[in-house]
Amino acid sequence: MSCWRIRSVDATASTNDDVREAARAGEAEGFVVTAKQQLSGRGRQGRVWESPPGNLYCSALLRPPNMPQVAGLYSFVAALAVRDTVHGFLLKTPITLKWPNDVLAGGKKISGILLEIEGDALIAGIGINVAQYPDNALYPATSLAAEGIQADAVLLLDRLLGRLQYWYDRMQSEGFAPIRAAWLEHAQKGALTVRLPQETVQGSFAGIDEQGRLRLQLEGGAERSISTGDVFLPPKD
Ligand code: BTN
Repeated sequence: MSCWRIRSVDATASTNDDVREAARAGEAEGFVVTAKQQLSGRGRQGRVWESPPGNLYCSALLRPPNMPQVAGLYSFVAALAVRDTVHGFLLKTPITLKWPNDVLAGGKKISGILLEIEGDALIAGIGINVAQYPDNALYPATSLAAEGIQADAVLLLDRLLGRLQYWYDRMQSEGFAPIRAAWLEHAQKGALTVRLPQETVQGSFAGIDEQGRLRLQLEGGAERSISTGDVFLPPKD
């Protein structure tokens, strides 16, 4: 990746849509759209991503080799970039990674990552809760402001893109192994509840495999590999 080319807009429906359109039109890797607010921000699994002014919303156009087979691995690349960025602002708060690509500050979701595919392009959409967070979300949430930090969105984006470039370049030069190792170092470990399309399973975190699937150790000791699902932490007392 040579350098980022950033288009900043006041409002848009979804920065992922803007980057998708650019990808279709043949735009090169490194194009980024950032918006002060989104009118139809999207989350994973067709959910709404509330996008009021004050938070960071951006999408980056990537054109990695071996698409679409490797697409899912880039959610770990993006999560590490967000983790480093948020950690730089919240040095005293534990920042953990919850499979597949949530970044938690003190156990609460502070960011969302939505990867979408367009032909051989990958759109990495990232939202970071800077000033606000939703109080009725699927997962307990927080923001940098709620954790006591006033962050400047321009600086935040600059740091985020720097870390995305770092982890993206490592993925190109060394493959998934160092990404997996770094992700595991910061993973949210312990008890997890996983909501699958047809059932809900309880277990404990046993790692991720070479394909990025979650390894869940079930109560009887057996292990299960999970490729899609919503993961919840036990409620805090
Ligand atoms: C999730 O956790 O469900 C993923 C949320 C992803 C939100 C970001 S904000 C920038 C980009 N544009 C969107 O419409 N969604 C992503």
